[in-house]
Amino acid sequence: MTWKAAVGAFFLAAGLAVAGAPAKKAPPAAKEESTKRLRQPDYLSELARQLLRQRMARHGKDMTRLVQAVVLLEKDVAKELAQAIASEPRITRPTPGASDELNSALPEQFFVRQDELRERAKAMAQAAASGSDDALAARLGDLTRTCVGCHSAYLEARDAKAAAP
Ligand code: HEC
Repeated sequence: MTWKAAVGAFFLAAGLAVAGAPAKKAPPAAKEESTKRLRQPDYLSELARQLLRQRMARHGKDMTRLVQAVVLLEKDVAKELAQAIASEPRITRPTPGASDELNSALPEQFFVRQDELRERAKAMAQAAASGSDDALAARLGDLTRTCVGCHSAYLEARDAKAAAP
């Protein structure tokens, strides 16, 4: 199972749990979870990739715990995790004339999605603090779409650059 499939499956479970009574126990996590990777980009240096990967390995872990917290309606935990995602330092957009390889190699959509992630994580924290159970599940769906949207833009940029003459 890919990590995307895992998140999808968890999210489905979240919807079901909100509709019915909260589950007592979290489903067992897939054993190979921590080793799941996005395809290797070939338009970034190894260093740039490592920086991104470190950050994303943490996202993967936070997300697993966040989904579990939502499913079990542990709102304090969900709020804390969402706030942690919202307050992460962001990769800055390339500045004109600067030659920072990582920043200028990334597609514009990466930065758009990065900002969106912060906004949606904030909305999630707010729903955990004062929203309905249903709103909390919906915000998790919004957040997940941002994860997938950025990965998609990242891989498409890679494919577009690889195809360029
Ligand atoms: C701003 C863009 C962006 C957003 C938003 C984003 N990711 Fe990523 N993610 C990436 C990139 C880029 C990589 C690939 C890094 C690499 O080359 O190994 C990645 C890779 C991953 C990986 C694989 C980690 C590894 O060790 O290779 C996981 C898991 C992951 N992301 C989870 C998430 C989750 C969960 C979210 C949403 C909460 C999320 N990401 C949001 C850009 C993003």
